[in-house]
Amino acid sequence: MPRFSQSPTDDGFIQNPYPFYDRMRAAGDLVWWDDYALPCATTHAAVHALLRDRRFGREVPPEHAAPTPAHCAAFYAIETHSMLELEPPRHTRLRGLVLRAFTSRRIKALAPEIDALCHRLIDDFPVGDFDLLDAYCRPVPVIVICRLLGVPASMAPQLLRWSAAMVAMYQARRDRAVEDAANAAARDFADFLRGYVEQRRRTPADDLITDLIAAEEDGARLSTDELIATCVLLLNAGHEATVHSLGNGVKALLEHGVTPTEADAADVTDEILRFDPPLHMFTRYAYEEVELFGHRFARGDQFALLLGAAARDPALRADPAAFDPSRAVSNHVAFGGGLHFCVGAPLARLEMQVALPILFARCPGLRLAEAPRYADLFHFHGLERLIVQA
Ligand code: HEM
Repeated sequence: MPRFSQSPTDDGFIQNPYPFYDRMRAAGDLVWWDDYALPCATTHAAVHALLRDRRFGREVPPEHAAPTPAHCAAFYAIETHSMLELEPPRHTRLRGLVLRAFTSRRIKALAPEIDALCHRLIDDFPVGDFDLLDAYCRPVPVIVICRLLGVPASMAPQLLRWSAAMVAMYQARRDRAVEDAANAAARDFADFLRGYVEQRRRTPADDLITDLIAAEEDGARLSTDELIATCVLLLNAGHEATVHSLGNGVKALLEHGVTPTEADAADVTDEILRFDPPLHMFTRYAYEEVELFGHRFARGDQFALLLGAAARDPALRADPAAFDPSRAVSNHVAFGGGLHFCVGAPLARLEMQVALPILFARCPGLRLAEAPRYADLFHFHGLERLIVQA
């Protein structure tokens, strides 16, 4: 298998990982990345196929599971009940419960609220240079996911802090300080939700937490630990990637002189997600011996799926390094595929389709006030800040 070396925390790679992906992809469907010591799927065809192949999955086979370090106990207490880390049958049960509450009716009904929220945020834009991530790209998804679950929007800043500390566990810069901070955040987040769920139990509402509590009270369907883990997952996954997608999207639109409108918002959104996706890498384990793409996987072998490399595969779209919403494709893998396909994809698309046209219509003079830089967050791919003038 062709071998490649590249530190994922190197600034050149963080600012533009695509030339490295191009070299890997040109070498084959599966290549070896030394810095991770993992085989990586690089092409759209390989990533697409491996996401859907049930001989692989996210949950580590039990005989390969490493013991949980004591200083990360609170973090892994949530992870062990998170659908994202599980395979059937537990994954099927947890995902089914969320999907039942996460109806398209409930998502669509959010459109007028997202619209009003965007206008309110723009009304408050400061004069002069300001960070659009703080003023718009962060508050939109975090306030929307709070509303959907039924958590007060005043909790948004606290949720952002807990979430940022927890998702750092999946980033290449992980070290002991990151682990301690993630564990403290997981403990405080779970404590908050336990208290909040008790309160909601007494005063039910038309929100997702109330629906999940009903499933929990049924006992057989959802344990209290699963309820807490599901809320943490939805609150974290429900904003992290969307914040980066909005930020990367505004950057791409301004740099390419494209103005999104309501009419082309769906194509613009999918082209942003294909052109500069916010999540670049996920891993899987093999559950049996399999020979694929010229490589023999043994049970327990781990490998990576490079969503960021698949996005710019010329087989998916001609001239993949060009940003061109008029030739958008919706079959990209920015939302994954197969069993773990993003539960929030319709919500994320709706948020982007509402937020981007409103921003450009209300701020026709919007321009970059400094060259945006990506943050050291791999496998996430999002900006440090986005300083603009409106
Ligand atoms: C543009 C924004 C978003 C992107 C690019 C994105 C991307 C992804 C991807 C790639 C996965 C699959 C990971 C894997 O296969 O290993 C995933 C899973 C998931 N996402 Fe999203 N996501 C976004 C927004 C959201 C939102 C708004 C929610 C809100 C509820 C959400 C909730 C979830 C959940 C719960 C899972 C786990 C599904 C499962 O394990 O079955 N995501 N997302």
